[in-house]
Amino acid sequence: MTTTPRVVDTYPDLAEADRVAGQLYTDPAIFDEEMEKIFYSTWVWVAHESEIPEAGSFKTTYVGRQPVIVTRDRKGGFNTLLNRCRHRGATVCDQSNGKANGFTCPYHNWSYALDGKLRGIPYPEGYEGVVEKEDFPLQRLRTESYAGMIWATFNQDAEPLEDFLGDAKIWIDRFFKQTNGYPTKVTGIHKFRFRGNWKIQLENTTDGYHFPMVHKSWMASIDAETAEMMSFMNDPAAVTHDLGNGHSVAVMAPANADLDIDDGAPLQPRFDDLVAELEASGEYTPEQIRRFVRSMHGSGFNLNTFPNVSFSLAFFRVLIPISVDETEIWHMSLGMDGGPECVNQERLRIHEHFQGPFGFGSPDDAEGWERVQLGAAGAPRMPILVNRGLNRETPSAEGWPTSHVTDETGMRGAYAMWKKMMSHD
Ligand code: FES
Ligand code: FE2
Repeated sequence: MTTTPRVVDTYPDLAEADRVAGQLYTDPAIFDEEMEKIFYSTWVWVAHESEIPEAGSFKTTYVGRQPVIVTRDRKGGFNTLLNRCRHRGATVCDQSNGKANGFTCPYHNWSYALDGKLRGIPYPEGYEGVVEKEDFPLQRLRTESYAGMIWATFNQDAEPLEDFLGDAKIWIDRFFKQTNGYPTKVTGIHKFRFRGNWKIQLENTTDGYHFPMVHKSWMASIDAETAEMMSFMNDPAAVTHDLGNGHSVAVMAPANADLDIDDGAPLQPRFDDLVAELEASGEYTPEQIRRFVRSMHGSGFNLNTFPNVSFSLAFFRVLIPISVDETEIWHMSLGMDGGPECVNQERLRIHEHFQGPFGFGSPDDAEGWERVQLGAAGAPRMPILVNRGLNRETPSAEGWPTSHVTDETGMRGAYAMWKKMMSHD
């Protein structure tokens, strides 16, 4: 682990409107404080409802550094439970996902229901007059959902989830238009780690500036129409909005920002075979087929919701802080539940081409992030600039601070929220 002396103690000095100290990526004391003041104080995304589709379905994940289980109980309710036995602290579930009637701790077999209630204690005689089962459920986090997305928080006094999301909800609704009226389902997850601070990834999701440089090899590997779609550097309609509460959206392909609005552009020839297959099935109208194909690349934007999940083109990107200089990323590809599987398959191939383990995009991003961590460790007091576009930022019609998609408006919004939360006692 990189350790650096904590030379500046006040957050106003560490995060200004147009710059942050490199120390924000390297100081273990700041990381510990972030866990308390951000990850254990606000809403953290934990699951999409399609990952826990039925009563008894569960998945495991993390809220900050704490392991949790997300379950769907017999009544259909979502529960987020601390994955920590109330006896001597062992994790009670070690599977990434599955179906269960409850959870039995492997150490001394205390058993818990899907809503966390303590149901059974083996050889209970020793606990008579010592343990009442109702006093020792798995710790429950507050859990709320919006549009099938489930967030949890340790903070019982946190504002309602929908208030926290605010105007990000408008973009969440637009994002899910890519499944064309079918329910959304997670079609696969790829997990990897990089040697860098979590905020480096947080910044990257609305960093349009790096795209043509870092992703040159991806741009060279795609068809001309897709390259045209992602050539936003000089497109004035491609903008980033600061949506408040640390949330932001980078609109890279404006024509796809709202898939209900069809500009009539010809479909990409690369999908000719897919169109022929859908037509041959006789199951879909020409309008439906056109809509499927227009949604192949997803939503046309990257929506970053603070602090740990982004809705990125056609997938979710989840960020799990491991330590001050290590972060785990989950890329979760999306498809239609009940729609044509050939379309889901083609969407998955497109996803793999950029985001997959052998993709042409994500490995290049990770290289950049690790270099940021190495450089920041070298001079933790030298500022990281987030001032691109500061002089051309104006309010949108909705009142959102807005600038070109290559500008650092989203990062400024995220750091303003970071500073607000970290300054809280
Ligand atoms: Fe779980 Fe003992 S630690 S039953
Ligand atoms: Fe990138």
